[in-house]
Amino acid sequence: MEVIRVKGGRSIEGEVTVEGAKNSALKLMAATLMAPGVNTLTNVPNIADVHVMGKVLKYLGARIEVLGEHELKIDTSSVDRWETPYHLVAQMRASTAVLGPLLSRFGKAIVAMPGGCNIGARKIDMHILGLESLGVNFDVDHGDIHASIPHGLKGTQVMLDFASVGATENLMMASVHVTGTTVIENAAREPEIVDLANLLNEMGAKVSGAGSSRIEIEGVEELHPVEHRVVGDRIEAGTFIAMAGICGGPVTVKGFDPAHLGLVLKKYELMGLDVERGRHECTVSRQAPIRSIDIQTLPFPGFPTDLQAQTMCLLAQGSDSCIVTENVFENRFMFASELQRMGADITIEGHHAIVRGVERFSGAEVKSPDLRGGAALVMAGLVADGYTTVSDVHHIDRGYECFVEKLQALGAEVRRMEVPDLEDGGEVG
Ligand code: EPZ
Repeated sequence: MEVIRVKGGRSIEGEVTVEGAKNSALKLMAATLMAPGVNTLTNVPNIADVHVMGKVLKYLGARIEVLGEHELKIDTSSVDRWETPYHLVAQMRASTAVLGPLLSRFGKAIVAMPGGCNIGARKIDMHILGLESLGVNFDVDHGDIHASIPHGLKGTQVMLDFASVGATENLMMASVHVTGTTVIENAAREPEIVDLANLLNEMGAKVSGAGSSRIEIEGVEELHPVEHRVVGDRIEAGTFIAMAGICGGPVTVKGFDPAHLGLVLKKYELMGLDVERGRHECTVSRQAPIRSIDIQTLPFPGFPTDLQAQTMCLLAQGSDSCIVTENVFENRFMFASELQRMGADITIEGHHAIVRGVERFSGAEVKSPDLRGGAALVMAGLVADGYTTVSDVHHIDRGYECFVEKLQALGAEVRRMEVPDLEDGGEVG
């Protein structure tokens, strides 16, 4: 079994450059299905989820050439299938991002219902409701969603109950060839939505308003292949910024736009971090004790749920008590229970976590509950007494490229290692 083992007590300092955003790259890859020909994506993170999306596209008939570490040439001219099998969707929920593109290209799609995951039910009812209003027919049969458009897709106004990132993306992509115009109200505003809209417009689509809660998509005849650079990963950046904050830094995090972490950086400054913003980087350090402040997660530009665990880790060493409220996912506090094994004092009340700051964490064996919680456990290990061993590191590999190497380059005493998997009755002692 692979684990990440970290020895606490060493500060981290220096420079780290983040990769392209996982939560944009996956959708940009899906969008290439709508532009038959050779599309080139650069600044693509070399992470497990991108490999799974590559498998989905190849299953559909695309040819993918990996050039260097971070460049993909995706030829979708010979894509001739519109079904994504369960074993791929089960590996990665984001595979449902091919639903809109397949409807746009073929007028039909069969996509396995995504299962839930550790952080929640991950339903797609808003995707389905929105697409039905465009004229999509759905049948769910034996765990597969069968989508078809018997009378074509007609632009209409879609009001989302919640600013869902995935629903906004699928509706945007399904609408590129509608008759007329689709308006999405209460659309998600994440920077990754803007990156996808930019790609679609470069392909010849007519998308306006991305980044606001009202997005208009005017139907066009066809899209053409393009070259596009994936936007920097604000969540990977925020993860390293939080690590600099808990250790003291100074660390310069490069390769992203600090405007994509507006509220996060403001909150971190209120917590006592010193933040110097550049055009594509941030330098972070901390001398003062961590100030305890309340945090509630919300869709962008609110505080991102994907930085909730990392921020709770900071607050768990705060000078007082505070409340962390998780409004986006129904079950995203498993990280807290693992952190308690390291001495954190956290009480969960529904979607609130009461966090009482403690002096020190003590190193322990902990399990990564999801990719962000796993990164936050390694972060806790950086300042814990003794050694911390984080298992289930496959979660971390889904969203972080060279996570251990980047931390080693910043001076952390951390490494990946193989240990006997005790769960299978491995040798003890
Ligand atoms: C995207 O997930 C990201 N994943 C998530 O990042 C991120 O946490 C989330 O957006 C919110 O920012 C990718 O982009 C691959 P949602 P998504 O639709 O699209 C509920 C990470 O760590 N909902 O905005 O699934 C849903 O269950 C991952 O990188 C419905 O009920 O998020 C959730 O509670 C984790 N019905 C909430 O809305 C729907 O039809 C937000 O979901 C759709 C969503």
